[in-house]
Amino acid sequence: MTPTMSTTSTAPATPTPANKVVIRLENITRVYKVGIERIAALNGVNLELRQNEYVAVMGPSGSGKSTLMNLLGCLDRCTSGTYELDGHNTTRLGAGGLAHIRNTRIGFVFQSFELMGRSSALKNVEMPLIYSRDGWWSRHRRAKAMLERVGLGDRIKHRPNQLSGGEKQRVAIARALVCNPSILLADEPTGNLDSKTSEDILRLFDQLHAEGQTIVLVTHEESVARHAKRVIRMMDGRIFSDLSSAEDQARRTAMAEHFGEVSK
Ligand SMILES: Nc1ncnc2c1ncn2[C@@H]1O[C@H](COP(=O)(O)OP(=O)(O)O)[C@@H](O)[C@H]1O
Ligand SMILES: [Mg+2]
Repeated sequence: MTPTMSTTSTAPATPTPANKVVIRLENITRVYKVGIERIAALNGVNLELRQNEYVAVMGPSGSGKSTLMNLLGCLDRCTSGTYELDGHNTTRLGAGGLAHIRNTRIGFVFQSFELMGRSSALKNVEMPLIYSRDGWWSRHRRAKAMLERVGLGDRIKHRPNQLSGGEKQRVAIARALVCNPSILLADEPTGNLDSKTSEDILRLFDQLHAEGQTIVLVTHEESVARHAKRVIRMMDGRIFSDLSSAEDQARRTAMAEHFGEVSK
């Protein structure tokens, strides 16, 4: 990634096959046990994501989107199957190995921001760097630069309760990116924001993508998914559609016409 934010949100070319594979999932299942009941939240998921892809994951509530994101983010383990990240098989790693991957290769953004309420924006963004070898001055500079990059250079001393929802999400995005992760995972990142603020945040994602960031975003809103270049639709723990966003949109339009509905 270049250190400066581009001012346009024009989409870059679709990643070519030359872009290296960041994520490879092979026949992933995740079964939750609740009492004697077994819930197959993921049921044979295969997926390959390349560097600089911008993917939206969609699907009805309960279709397995968050379970998938938690696995991708090494917050959880699959029941069976293989998950390779940057060519490393994560499936056999212990808790320490997974934590190391989370700290160095994954950036996570949540709907509810998940900021430390009593700490300044700067301290929040510095937090993941505690695991790096940087001294405090370097951590300070990196965190400040990242806040400037997301447009919050004038808010670094503010605590979360002194920030708007959109600003809080920008802090969370800066925190997710400060370790320069291979992949940015965002689970409903605009779910708690009004539509104007959502658009601002989505423009920021567009810019990060234009600078080379690989992004996976979960959403249930078509208008949000339209920012991505590839749309994966899930149902009952499986991927049932995986198309470029143009193809996905064309299919939705065709289906809406077929069933006499207006495509939104
Ligand atoms: N911790 C859990 N324990 C038991 N069942 C769970 C747990 N998390 C999710 N599930 C179940 O797994 C399925 C998929 O959930 P989830 O991945 O959260 O779906 P989505 O994010 O698409 O709404 C649902 O049936 C849900 O009830
Ligand atoms: Mg969910």
